[in-house]
Amino acid sequence: MLEKNPYKYNGESLVVDEDSKNTKTKNVYLESYGCAMNFSDSEIVMSILSNIGYQSTGNINHADLILINTCSIREKAELTVRKRLEKFNRIKRTNKNLKVGVLGCMAERLKHKFLDEEKIVDMVVGPDAYKDLPNLIKEINNGDDAVNVILSKDETYGDINPVRINSNGVNAFVSITRGCDNMCTFCVVPFTRGRERSRDPQSIVNELNELADQGYKEVTLLGQNVDSYLWYGGGLKKDFQKASEIQKASSINFSKLLEMCALSNPKMRIRFSTSNPQDMSIEVIKVMSRHKNICNHIHLPVQSGSNTILKAMNRQHTRKEYLDLINSIYKIMPDCSISHDMITGFPNESENDHKLTLSLMEKVKYSFGYMFKYSERPGTLAAKKLNDNVDEKIKSRRLSEIVELQQKHSLFRNKQKINQVVEILIEKESKKSANHWAGRNQQNSVVIIPKEEYNIGDFVNVKINDCTSATLIGKGLGYSENN
Ligand code: 5AD
Ligand code: SF4
Repeated sequence: MLEKNPYKYNGESLVVDEDSKNTKTKNVYLESYGCAMNFSDSEIVMSILSNIGYQSTGNINHADLILINTCSIREKAELTVRKRLEKFNRIKRTNKNLKVGVLGCMAERLKHKFLDEEKIVDMVVGPDAYKDLPNLIKEINNGDDAVNVILSKDETYGDINPVRINSNGVNAFVSITRGCDNMCTFCVVPFTRGRERSRDPQSIVNELNELADQGYKEVTLLGQNVDSYLWYGGGLKKDFQKASEIQKASSINFSKLLEMCALSNPKMRIRFSTSNPQDMSIEVIKVMSRHKNICNHIHLPVQSGSNTILKAMNRQHTRKEYLDLINSIYKIMPDCSISHDMITGFPNESENDHKLTLSLMEKVKYSFGYMFKYSERPGTLAAKKLNDNVDEKIKSRRLSEIVELQQKHSLFRNKQKINQVVEILIEKESKKSANHWAGRNQQNSVVIIPKEEYNIGDFVNVKINDCTSATLIGKGLGYSENN
């Protein structure tokens, strides 16, 4: 154990005793899997590590410390991580001083078990415990194992300035809430990321201002359930009713936060993800329509088109309520794009339930979507109460059917854009051609244009002349007024 702790957490921020900083720089190799929130967390981790003398390396063989930020959402994600751990094990055999730490959702789900199952793991750190990393690293460097998987009531890392990793200097993630209170029966997130809490709006706006000063052009506000954002001075969302009348009266919900962000940097494009149908208010849609720097795209997972399955999933909305919300969105923002997440083969899903999913997709004609086969997650209500009884072959066939239908709809939506002029923000070189840029329009479609005189970070008006189901293809007509 530590004799003297140089790294003190004072309840708000991490205080590092300067004398105790490591004089020799150490290399950390950090690999991230899963959702955008995990990638955003990795930037917080890098910030904490840089304070104690670690620098990031992209070369795994140069690492003193390997960290893997993990995802538990489906079994496949966990298998990928286990494969990587085998690889790290091989490197460790030749480098006895190398330490390996597991971060994120798998760390939280498996806790101490990780140390027994994966003998090469030295450290296990859950998503709310990153401020404890300096202590934990000290412990493993002293030869002890180290674990912190305590979930927090108020940790939001609002006081940590993320170190942007692999950044193009244009797009950045800014997390606004942590955890989820929804308890969808299939989902492991409420167990791995804990209860819902929101970050101080001022710290969010400050981060946006700093990003704007550094030249960033687009931010995505992140949370498992952004529409549920509620700031009343800190604390869990579920404890809001216990707050004082003054706190309640001055509380800030997601529509207010979104407006604050839009007004704070009118030239900064603002996106947000993920929205939850039951929590998305008309006010949010109105704020989106009022501010042209808030992108006209909503990622609105529905998971199934059948009321029976929605109920078994503990989704707090019916098919009709979801479709009514979609109608309200199109009424207020006719050019808004909507994307989805869908699960096939949830326990007891019948052929008729599956047909209802297809018919819901037919009604909405989503711009794009993420589709998954149901994967039973240990500890969830579905795993405890329901049989994973849809045959694997049937799951696969249903998945192919919804993927195929989605491709048809994506192509339909993209074709509507042909001959239109759209504004894009250039993000990177096209994967397929060194002579082309890739950017995105407000609706979140990827748009490819010849490079010409344009550069990464430019807002360009583009005439669309062709498309595939995944991409719009066009030509720059000149810089847009947003530059
Ligand atoms: N099986 C399959 N897909 C899942 N998702 C979440 N949990 C599971 C699971 N157990 C999907 C949902 C969610 C997205 C992030 O991952 O569609 O919206
Ligand atoms: Fe999981 Fe449902 Fe929360 Fe999304 S809303 S993170 S699916 S529990």
